[in-house]
Amino acid sequence: MKSDLSSENIRIPAHIGIIMDGNGRWATNRHLPRTAGHRAGVKNITPVVSHALEKGVRCVTLYAFSTENKNRPQTEVKTLVGLIKKQLKPMTRELLARGARVIVSGDRSYFPDDVQAVLAEVESENTDGAAQTVNIALNYGGRAEILRAAATAAQSGEITEQSFERGLYTYGMPELDMIIRTGGEKRLSNFLLYQAAYSELFFTDTLWPDFGTAELDGMLSEFNTRTRRFGKL
Ligand code: IPE
Ligand code: IPE
Ligand code: MG
Repeated sequence: MKSDLSSENIRIPAHIGIIMDGNGRWATNRHLPRTAGHRAGVKNITPVVSHALEKGVRCVTLYAFSTENKNRPQTEVKTLVGLIKKQLKPMTRELLARGARVIVSGDRSYFPDDVQAVLAEVESENTDGAAQTVNIALNYGGRAEILRAAATAAQSGEITEQSFERGLYTYGMPELDMIIRTGGEKRLSNFLLYQAAYSELFFTDTLWPDFGTAELDGMLSEFNTRTRRFGKL
């Protein structure tokens, strides 16, 4: 059964996580350096995220740079960090103009001071009371996040779901209803491991720079056909 996205009964996921994978292969397929793929990938973020926000998604978390991505050749890491420094502000301007707030998750102490300053500047442009959030995961790892949350909870004295979740980067955001991974791999690669407990998973062979709004609409439709039981009958 295909549901109609224009129907008023449509359930829109509150929070979508996107593993934006396949930039390197996109470039290699075109006999271009991998860095060209990363640039194309960055360009694709605003149209796709804007579309999700227009559909009423309250939160989008983007996996842009993992803790493990630091282990790539240093030339590629440098390009990625350079792209964050140069492109984050222009990339988020349109999202901010739409009234969304933009936040960054991950261990930012890894980044040079000038990049950390860009991250702080982007977040400082947020206005109070924004109803939608774009959360960009940079030097983010699910295991590191869990350890951080465990430490926060331990400090508070009692380890409960509440005290633990307070230490997650996603604290205060809605449940992660849906994870999309482009680029053909069927794994989470250390993305939102705690939050993914009951997420609906969507995998596509489409490489991130080629992923468009039509394919996102198809996934939003399919989301409506999935029966979510949360362990109950
Ligand atoms: C995803 O694309 C972007 C980052 C991990 C930074 P990749 O760079 O992993 O592209 P592939 O998977 O090698 O094609
Ligand atoms: C996941 O992609 C990380 C991001 C998209 C930022 P990777 O390309 O790093 O994942 P693996 O290495 O295929 O698991
Ligand atoms: Mg990859």
